[in-house]
Amino acid sequence: MRIGIIGAGQMARALGGGWAAAGHEIALGARTSTRAGETAAAIGHGARAVTVAQAARFGEVTLLAVPVDALADVLRTANGDNAELPRAADGNRPAHIFAGRTVIDCTNAFAPDNGGFTLSEPAVAERIAETAPGARVVKAFNLLAAEVWACSDRVFEGRALTVPLCGDDADAVATVGGLAEDLKLRPVHAGGLRQARYLEAASAFVVGLWFAGHDVRAMLPPLESAFAIPDAE
Ligand SMILES: NC(=O)c1ccc[n+]([C@@H]2O[C@H](COP(=O)([O-])OP(=O)(O)OC[C@H]3O[C@@H](n4cnc5c(N)ncnc54)[C@H](OP(=O)(O)O)[C@@H]3O)[C@@H](O)[C@H]2O)c1
Repeated sequence: MRIGIIGAGQMARALGGGWAAAGHEIALGARTSTRAGETAAAIGHGARAVTVAQAARFGEVTLLAVPVDALADVLRTANGDNAELPRAADGNRPAHIFAGRTVIDCTNAFAPDNGGFTLSEPAVAERIAETAPGARVVKAFNLLAAEVWACSDRVFEGRALTVPLCGDDADAVATVGGLAEDLKLRPVHAGGLRQARYLEAASAFVVGLWFAGHDVRAMLPPLESAFAIPDAE
């Protein structure tokens, strides 16, 4: 599959590296060709450095791996010279380059707050979908650190990591699920794009607990005990 990645930092390298190793074609667009070139070289397997607009055109799937504050700029730049794009349904303006394409949003809108984190905005994935009408946005991979996505073995206590995916388009969710499986992860469709805001909030909450040194995994019972109520005698 052709995967465009926008951003050339830790997440681009971690996820792009895994997908390139799994046989996908990667084109990586960044603000500077130097940074894009360095990250493409680190990813290897034929990954190439391009511009942000070229990465957007290349990808059957595009990963947005930039800070939340950069998204408006990135979504504008991704369109590039959009004169060649098809007209939107209203006929008045060209459709966004991402219309009809799968877009993975792995961002977190963390704002430091009293030793933990709050959100600087409540629903980033929904904003992306509104800014790029027709994009098949899937929220994924925002819950864990880039280092975890970059490891070769993500089995803990005998279980493969489960990755929640939130998106409205079933085909796009299935595509991203396949990309998660390529990384030896277990995808779970965790709801529509409206649920992505909970995944974003969960990330801020969980990461805040981890930073405070708490074992979040120990806070939840296994599924079979989640609603365990002793039988009445
Ligand atoms: N790192 C993690 O563990 C982690 C985990 C889960 C989610 N996330 C989220 O994933 C996203 C990326 O995180 P990261 O750790 O990969 O960040 P990072 O290492 O700081 O890399 C961010 C990349 O975005 C680029 N960028 C910034 N503004 C841009 C713009 N206007 N146009 C084009 N590119 C721009 C930067 O370009 P330059 O190279 O030119 O600075 C850099 O290449 C963030 O939203 C973050 O919250 C990160």
